[in-house]
Amino acid sequence: MQQITVGIVGATGAVGVEILRLLKKRNFPVKALHCFGSSRSAGTKLHFGNDEIIVEELSDSFFPSLDLVFFSAGSAVSKKYIPLVLQTGATVIDNSSAFRLDENVPLIIPEVNLDALQSDPRLIANPNCATIIMLMALAPLHKLAKIKRIVVATYQAASGAGHRAMEDLRLETKAHLQGSSYERSVIPHPYAFNLFLHNSPLGENGYVDEELKLLQETRKILNDPSIRVAATCVRVPVLRSHAEAINAEFYHPICAKEAHTILQNSPGIEILEDYTQNRFPMPSDATGQESVFCGRIRKDLSQENTLDLWVVGDQLLKGAALNAIQIAEALYANKTSAFTNLV
Ligand code: A2P
Repeated sequence: MQQITVGIVGATGAVGVEILRLLKKRNFPVKALHCFGSSRSAGTKLHFGNDEIIVEELSDSFFPSLDLVFFSAGSAVSKKYIPLVLQTGATVIDNSSAFRLDENVPLIIPEVNLDALQSDPRLIANPNCATIIMLMALAPLHKLAKIKRIVVATYQAASGAGHRAMEDLRLETKAHLQGSSYERSVIPHPYAFNLFLHNSPLGENGYVDEELKLLQETRKILNDPSIRVAATCVRVPVLRSHAEAINAEFYHPICAKEAHTILQNSPGIEILEDYTQNRFPMPSDATGQESVFCGRIRKDLSQENTLDLWVVGDQLLKGAALNAIQIAEALYANKTSAFTNLV
């Protein structure tokens, strides 16, 4: 693999630090690394293996010439800075929603639609975390039986709202147990021992953005505008792994046993099912793990050609940082060899 100069915008964030860690862990061929944040974190030190990297303040007056830049600092930062960074000649992998639905921007889950990467894409979007985790389980089944409609309820962790939301959950829980009060910084509702509907903007149609992303991104990634998706997204007091209860209706017959076998043989998926012990995937199983965990793969007794599944994945890893790095590996390595690592 060629040696690559890399930048991470949002390197101090919950996803950014995982990108930094995974670049080292997966031996990505980093020739030089630049980490960027806001003025809040400029000058602080991050570790990359044995090296210390000083965080630089992102500025629109100067951006160094780099081969590859990961963006994970939110949609507003992506919209403002990605066009400037593209002008420097860099390739960008964006973890925000800013360009995901742009028809010229590939939206990639490497195990699912690597073929949608054109020969030399300059900007690639990383899908929404809940979409990645859901499609890791559904895409292999879609290949066999073609999905007609998905009904999904998500149980989303604090990490999806960033490192300050994780801190809010930790500190509010502590304060709650001590009987003291805590002023949350980003989470809009009581969070300790509570849950609430996803805190993304609510549209006139009654859906929050996160729910619409599950619909729009699924259609784009599976390249099928006819798929129907009804989603309800909920934020739960879990630190970093999302869980999803999925009901999927197919055009063609598919039984639970077939689905089980397909998923068992799908890269990036682990089955965790023990019906004798009522033991199925939990966020604590998935936290820190690269795989997406599936269980309770069962026939929906109320309807033909329909399965229910319970799927759990680490939002910060496969839901964000890992998926972004796998895209980078596919861009710079021989595609097939990058993917033998995943199985
Ligand atoms: P900083 O640490 O300086 O605030 P998270 O998703 O965990 O909340 O992290 C968001 C990341 O995006 C952090 O690294 C944060 O940097 C970075 N960030 C937020 N706003 C900006 C901005 N205007 N310019 C550069 N980086 C930003």
